[in-house]
Amino acid sequence: MTGTFTAPKGTYDVLPPASATWLAVVDALSAPARGAGYGYLVTPLFEDTALFLRSVGESTDVVSKEMYTFTDKGGRSITLRPEQTAGVMRAIVEHGLFRGQLPVKVWYTGPNFRYEQPQSGRYRQHVQVGIEAIGTDDAALDAEVVWLGVQAYAGVGLTQAELQLTSLGDATCRPAYRDRLTEYLDTLDLDSDTRRRVRINPLRVLDDKRPQVQAQLGGAPLITDHLCPACKEHHETVRGLLTDLGVAFVDSPRLVRGLDYYTRTTFEFVHRGLGSQASLGGGGRYDGLMESVGGPALSGIGFGLGVDRTMLAVAAEGLTVADDARCAVFVVPLGATAKRRAVALVAELRTAGISTDLAYGDRGLKGAMKAADRSGARHAVVLGERDLEGGSAQLKNLATGEQVTVPLADLATTLLELS
Ligand code: HAM
Repeated sequence: MTGTFTAPKGTYDVLPPASATWLAVVDALSAPARGAGYGYLVTPLFEDTALFLRSVGESTDVVSKEMYTFTDKGGRSITLRPEQTAGVMRAIVEHGLFRGQLPVKVWYTGPNFRYEQPQSGRYRQHVQVGIEAIGTDDAALDAEVVWLGVQAYAGVGLTQAELQLTSLGDATCRPAYRDRLTEYLDTLDLDSDTRRRVRINPLRVLDDKRPQVQAQLGGAPLITDHLCPACKEHHETVRGLLTDLGVAFVDSPRLVRGLDYYTRTTFEFVHRGLGSQASLGGGGRYDGLMESVGGPALSGIGFGLGVDRTMLAVAAEGLTVADDARCAVFVVPLGATAKRRAVALVAELRTAGISTDLAYGDRGLKGAMKAADRSGARHAVVLGERDLEGGSAQLKNLATGEQVTVPLADLATTLLELS
């Protein structure tokens, strides 16, 4: 077979120079967590399928419809991770990290895989930057995690990310609320598919975007009116702490997340510039998650921020997050002796911290200068045989065309002064 290939449906390549923005976004999204005692954790791209069934929840779309699951050559059922929180819990339990200082605080980044219908902002491979803090249900930790998310987007430079916040209650109050909501939904005119969803998870029906469903939901009971005293107090404390921190949030009692493990504090960052895939990132507390993967009954809280959608939001707001990865200096050797010296010179300049590239391919002055112009470098260093004999080089400002002779020994210092 011959022919070319394209990236698999729902995936894409991140090419230079835009990839410089990608790297800067990952850096900015993770910087607040790195500055708050979160350690970097790397987990495998694939896990035992049962891990996701037990944690993310079998009733979710993510697990029931979207997982990349296969049997490996050893006969094990393996799934490419659709998200990273489950793997983080597995690693913390497996390595007993919960026996040390609590809360355990980690951050991570990497790709996740969901077999979704691709559209702008929705892909089959997406990358998140996330954090998890496990081992205390202190509301101050909720405030920290939410605040770190706010800081993450601020660090990228986004100004139009809205924080939506609610509490989903816990095992004490949610079941009663769920019954109430089911009773209410049963009185509505819903199609059979939606009725089925009411049985599986009635909360998710609140999130149904179709106007004919939304129009009937006006009188639906809201979880925040049915929290038990402990959840209510927790929620009020989190809201108060966020207000003290100057964090703007929108109370969003209808907020529903796509994963089943959330309890109490739940939040999402939404960006109006993103169209239908508006969720930039989200997270929340999860009381029973660690237990569900065989660990102790420790509560935790975390978030996952989508890098792909953050890139789209950066474009929607017209931000420049990174200089592209061009070199500052382009070295042009003329002739074989100069070439040999140029290879050493490039190494010297790079070692001195000056980003430098070389005209490869022995193109002659005209072709090499064209390459220098195209490279986007600010300066070209032209190394001719005669210059070399005199121990110097021509330093050319590619924007102004101005050219000076500089002794090779002074070149690095001169370039550093100019940068
Ligand atoms: P999630 O809401 O499923 O949460 O995903 C987090 C973010 O990942 C979304 O807000 C979105 O930006 C991005 N994302 C998800 N799916 C896609 C997709 N198909 N294409 C592009 N971007 C996508 C979680 O995954 C949780 N593990 C977050 C968390 C951590 N909760 C607690 N700790």
